[in-house]
Amino acid sequence: MNMCRSILFLFLMVYVTIVETSCPLPEQYYLDCAVGRKLNDSIKLCKNYGMTLMNLTNSSHITQDIMVLNQTLRSANCYSRFWFASKNVTGILGSLDTLDDVLTGLLSGVGELLAGVLGTVGNILCLIPLFGCPATTTPAPITDAVTVCVRPKQQRVVQKCSSQAPRTDMKTYQFVEQTMFGGVLNTFPSRSRMTCSGICSTLDECIGISYINGICSIYI
Ligand SMILES: *[C@@H]1O[C@H](CO)[C@@H](O)[C@H](O)[C@H]1NC(C)=O
Ligand SMILES: *[C@@H]1O[C@H](CO)[C@@H](O)[C@H](O)[C@H]1NC(C)=O
Ligand SMILES: *[C@@H]1O[C@H](CO)[C@@H](O)[C@H](O)[C@H]1NC(C)=O
Ligand SMILES: *[C@@H]1O[C@H](CO)[C@@H](O)[C@H](O)[C@H]1NC(C)=O
Ligand SMILES: *[C@@H]1O[C@H](CO)[C@@H](O)[C@H](O)[C@H]1NC(C)=O
Repeated sequence: MNMCRSILFLFLMVYVTIVETSCPLPEQYYLDCAVGRKLNDSIKLCKNYGMTLMNLTNSSHITQDIMVLNQTLRSANCYSRFWFASKNVTGILGSLDTLDDVLTGLLSGVGELLAGVLGTVGNILCLIPLFGCPATTTPAPITDAVTVCVRPKQQRVVQKCSSQAPRTDMKTYQFVEQTMFGGVLNTFPSRSRMTCSGICSTLDECIGISYINGICSIYI
């Protein structure tokens, strides 16, 4: 009996490990690096999905925030400029190769001061070497940049795990509810959880669902 339990325990350990590594939780930041957008369109995109535009404001966790952003951009090979907000200013431009400068600027207060002085026109910051823009005194105005949104924490999400799970019978693990980061792509009445998760399966961008009181939510 003890032996059985040990084996079962071992099996469960391996099972949980495999499933967890094949199904990493979504990052806090949602990145759309494929399309450059006007600032207002980036803000709208985030808002439509219940998220907010990237906000890099000095705080005790800004170094951690920038580290996560660094990883998000790096893993997507995203070297394009992206929009962000800082304090009361929206429309500042950052990029992977200027993150160090952005962090230094925020920690020292220099970036904040400049942003405050220059207002919402992000491209003007290109005149300031701190933000690592091309060395030209009259840069062409930059009007398009890629979008990084901040996903809120969602309760009771059934995460969509990779179909590359080593065994199909492990799919039962998909039905564990947890708290994770997610934007809301869509919310609608649905007959069953299976219908809801079926819709999620057909959408590449779907990272999970919730099905509560007949309402299906699709997360991105
Ligand atoms: C954003 O601004 C551009 C012009 O700068 C305009 O063409 C576009 O329709 C605006 N989008 C929204 C969602 O207001
Ligand atoms: C950015 O975040 C800070 C701190 O949470 C907040 O005070 C500020 O209003 C935010 N800025 C924008 C433009 O949303
Ligand atoms: C971003 O990540 C790279 C590689 O891990 C590292 O060399 C760099 O210092 C990081 N930058 C910031 C601002 O965290
Ligand atoms: C930024 O935040 C850190 C930690 O909270 C603090 O030590 C530093 O003085 C702040 N910098 C500015 C310019 O407010
Ligand atoms: C942001 O706040 C600072 C003072 O905290 C102010 O000087 C500046 O004009 C504000 N900028 C905007 C765009 O509201």
